Amino acid sequence: MAGKDKLRKFAEIRTFKNVYSSKNFTEPIVINSEEEELDIRGKWNEHFGNDNPIVLELACGKGHYARGLGQRYPNKNFIGIDLKGNRIWKGASEALDNGEENVAFLRARIEFLERYFAAGEVAEIWVTFADPQYKKPKKRLTHARFLGIYKNILKEGGLVHYKSDSTELYEFTLEVLEEEKIPILYKNADIYASELENPDLEIQTYYERMHLALNKTIKYVRFIP
Ligand SMILES: C[S@@+](CC[C@H](N)C(=O)[O-])C[C@H]1O[C@@H](n2cnc3c(N)ncnc32)[C@H](O)[C@@H]1O
Repeated sequence: MAGKDKLRKFAEIRTFKNVYSSKNFTEPIVINSEEEELDIRGKWNEHFGNDNPIVLELACGKGHYARGLGQRYPNKNFIGIDLKGNRIWKGASEALDNGEENVAFLRARIEFLERYFAAGEVAEIWVTFADPQYKKPKKRLTHARFLGIYKNILKEGGLVHYKSDSTELYEFTLEVLEEEKIPILYKNADIYASELENPDLEIQTYYERMHLALNKTIKYVRFIP
């Protein structure tokens, strides 16, 4: 049954107007809901029909940050990015049903973001509850190689927000930032222990709620790569 449901979601998501899927792992091409192959790099504002700033949620899963911020900031555009179509399906179908026109999704590997976004095309990035990658630090989304990718697609001075339940990932991120001589604008190892520094931190993702139910503390770092 679970397999059938996944297949149904894969078929459906291809028809969603707010979802683009990378064609494969070698070409910088995405496929839209009309099954057209597009080189979308540098042209995301054509999807949104405006020149508003573009904010990414990486490892977005069901896209709680992309959608939550989208509702708060109608004058910005939000793109949730994840590998897994069945997770994107949930956020994308709800965003369509609610008429959230400033929210879109891209099914792609974060390793290849520069294929889908031009230099300076992105205003801000949120990385929400990325996988710990215990055995593969190079795959952690705050490894120096990823910070380089983020820098290349961000506008000058564009912020990265990193939210996590994992002490290991939080400390790893702080170490990488120190090694790379990237100043930390704000950090907090337990954001809910006191008044939130920033109201956007109160948006909670699916994974965040699971971690909170297990009494884990939520960590956050903000920096400009
Ligand atoms: C722990 S989940 C968090 C999902 C969501 N941010 C949340 O908080 O509910 C991590 C997500 O990262 C995605 N992911 C992991 N590595 C990725 C990569 N290299 N490129 C794109 N997505 C990736 C997974 O598919 C998964 O949905």
